[in-house]
Amino acid sequence: MRFDIISVLPALLESPFAHSILQRAQKKGLSEIHVHNLRDYSTHKQKSVDDYQYGGGSGMVMSIEPFANCMDYLMSERDYDEIIFMTPDGETLKQTIANELSSKKNIIILCGHYKGIDQRIRDLYVTREISIGDYVLSGGELPAAVLVDTVVRLLPGVLNDETSALSDSFQGELLDAPVYTRPADWKGHRVPDILLSGNEAAINNWRHDQALERTQKRRPDLLK
Ligand code: ADE
Repeated sequence: MRFDIISVLPALLESPFAHSILQRAQKKGLSEIHVHNLRDYSTHKQKSVDDYQYGGGSGMVMSIEPFANCMDYLMSERDYDEIIFMTPDGETLKQTIANELSSKKNIIILCGHYKGIDQRIRDLYVTREISIGDYVLSGGELPAAVLVDTVVRLLPGVLNDETSALSDSFQGELLDAPVYTRPADWKGHRVPDILLSGNEAAINNWRHDQALERTQKRRPDLLK
């Protein structure tokens, strides 16, 4: 699966994809992540990518031309399944959206800044607008990294059994049960006896009960 991320701050996107599972997915050839510097597509002398807002108002607006140049170039190279704009007024990212996107082949992600991007980019190019939550960040880069992470870890072969995505919170309707590792007794705080019993069926029942209790307490809205 291929992601092309268009950003005015590409350095912000270096680290998130250079470690751990996301790095491994790229090394294994399961995902490709290409970050494009929006300024490289500006035809302006100073390589500017924004301008004053028509009608007045504070804050610069990102211009259509550099985004259009970059997307036209990318789309001349291959077909894209989605062009996603990261924005706080988009649909809120949920596991179901990540599952859906993980079946796509090529995705472009646009990162905005300043006051926003010229509406014509959204009208003419964007196929989907996604928010990572009801709060405003200074740009779309961190949201783009969050989106790519949720999708790439679902691609077949990216996670091994140990880190299987199927048991994640939100993949079913229950949150995860609590987990423990050694020591069994830390300063008198003991791991629940059931987990040391070796009785697989009893452990599974306990985990299910714990997951249910945690979901009822923290996220009753998830229970249908
Ligand atoms: N850009 C700024 N804030 C954002 C958010 N919450 N989600 C997606 N993109 C954003």
